[in-house]
Amino acid sequence: MDMGLQGRTALVTGASRGIGLAIVEALAAEGVRVVAAARNVTAELKETGAIAVPVDLSTPDGPAHLVERAVAELGEDLDLLVNNVGGGDPGGNAVRGFLGFADGEWLSWFELNFFAAVRTTRAALPGLLRRRGVIVNISSNTARMPHAGPVPYTTAKAALTAFGKALAEELGPQGVRVNTVSPGPVRTAVWEGPGGYGAELAAALGVPHEQLLAGLPAQTGMTTGRLVEPAEVAALVTYLASPQAASVNGADLVIDGGAIKTV
Ligand SMILES: NC(=O)c1ccc[n+]([C@@H]2O[C@H](COP(=O)([O-])OP(=O)(O)OC[C@H]3O[C@@H](n4cnc5c(N)ncnc54)[C@H](OP(=O)(O)O)[C@@H]3O)[C@@H](O)[C@H]2O)c1
Repeated sequence: MDMGLQGRTALVTGASRGIGLAIVEALAAEGVRVVAAARNVTAELKETGAIAVPVDLSTPDGPAHLVERAVAELGEDLDLLVNNVGGGDPGGNAVRGFLGFADGEWLSWFELNFFAAVRTTRAALPGLLRRRGVIVNISSNTARMPHAGPVPYTTAKAALTAFGKALAEELGPQGVRVNTVSPGPVRTAVWEGPGGYGAELAAALGVPHEQLLAGLPAQTGMTTGRLVEPAEVAALVTYLASPQAASVNGADLVIDGGAIKTV
């Protein structure tokens, strides 16, 4: 299906693997000229044909340098910004209660999951306003279920969701739409990788990693019975970026296989 995005420009953060990579692939398939940012440029990212920019987005200056480079590489303003970068595990052991996290760790989670989006948006906004563009923030369903993950992570995601809502209100009248996508457990390295959160959780619970993954959909109340695929999140982002979503602004679209039970 042609989503009407041919020739548009986009910046996707956290794009070397997982959800970000799937978003780059989906946008590129729609004829979007994509700049893709992560610390490492993977072989999979190179294959997409996107313009890859290596950058650390957890630093105060990283986002502004990235946007400057993106606009220079594209030779024009951005139509779409996808603030996908997030996750992270600064302490190397995310399965802890509140008292287990010191200030420095709280700051690290917030730098990656909240301030990277704030700073990238600030840098990209003048161009997005000129193009009457679109912003999509990738939050998490744990923003609405903050007990279901490391508390600095879920709190930072709740802040990101609130940020998107406030921005939508301010920028809507100026022609820029802002929406949030909140996935539940997605089949990426976060869950499946040997050093990821899933592996840490399995070790903390004393169960084999494979067993944790097999039981995760039921444990988290996913009525679909399986993890979300990165391409499914990417399809939702592509829709939100498209003219077909012209009246969708300030929304928080949950894609979690039915894990959230409240209306
Ligand atoms: N997977 C899930 O179950 C799930 C659920 C809800 C929400 N989310 C959210 O969805 C987003 C993507 O998650 P994912 O599962 O795809 O994560 P992932 O597989 O860990 O990928 C994270 C991406 O971000 C990049 N990245 C990490 N730190 C960075 C930094 N300091 N500067 C620049 N890039 C950095 C990584 O590349 P480099 O390592 O090369 O930098 C990678 O491309 C995150 O915001 C996450 O919180 C995920």
